[in-house]
Amino acid sequence: MELIDGKKIAVKVKQELADEVNRLKANGERAPHLVAVLVGNDPASETYVASKVKACQEVGFKSTEMRYSADMTEEQLLAVVDRLNRDTDVDGYIVQLPLPAHISEEKVLMAINPDKDVDGFHPCNVGKMVTGLPAYLPATPAGIVELLKRYDIPTQGKHCVVIGRSNIVGTPMAVLMSRKGRHADCTVTLCHSRTQNLKEMALQADILIVALGKPQFVTADMVKEGAVVIDVGIHRIASDKTKSGFRLVGDVDFEQVAPKCSYITPVPGGVGPMTIVSLLQNTLEARKGLS
Ligand code: GUN
Repeated sequence: MELIDGKKIAVKVKQELADEVNRLKANGERAPHLVAVLVGNDPASETYVASKVKACQEVGFKSTEMRYSADMTEEQLLAVVDRLNRDTDVDGYIVQLPLPAHISEEKVLMAINPDKDVDGFHPCNVGKMVTGLPAYLPATPAGIVELLKRYDIPTQGKHCVVIGRSNIVGTPMAVLMSRKGRHADCTVTLCHSRTQNLKEMALQADILIVALGKPQFVTADMVKEGAVVIDVGIHRIASDKTKSGFRLVGDVDFEQVAPKCSYITPVPGGVGPMTIVSLLQNTLEARKGLS
């Protein structure tokens, strides 16, 4: 069993991005500029946005955090989006989700200029991804593909089972793994809450990608000997073995499952660090133009 070290790969990709920023600057060009819009003070969103801003600083990008109170109106947020769309100093931006209940996420995401949509959430980018045109890819699936590439894990002709069909992870993951290419070309099964015989489906996976958001859901009896297991979940659970009284776990029961795998991502330090790196890669592309 080999651990897929997302933390190590993220450091490497960030170094490559920093080199690219230095090349841009040496050519007299400005660094990429990412803006993160945060509405309200959801603690998880605060943490994510802080990590994104820190990662920008690490690679030499300009970053701006725009914070608004939870009672801002939808109209006010749409006005912010409109300003960002027209601001030529901003290459890409994200509106951190979830938004307060009185603001329509769909309306806001639809208002983002697809050329600046570095989250890859706009239907224009989703449509381009599905048809294989250059597009901003959603960060978590793109990060997973990058990990498979960097570890040179064979995917062509393999059976990839994805558990979870969210717009942000499961659905685009299934699309990317089924596309043509050396690091794709899988036969894909997309499982979800209504799937019958989930265990039998999971057992067929050469590559099992788990993104359903339930702590330690995947157990050893659901995993084929020699499978590659990618764990997208991250949860805080109570623990009497740590000083803090909690520990982080994924959607996979790591201790049980790991001995059966050829490769597995740990939690933390697997998929998580790659998600932010993908956002940085998209922002660099936004600066240079999609290719
Ligand atoms: N909320 C949780 N993940 C994400 C993400 O990748 N982008 C945005 N904008 N919001 C999120």
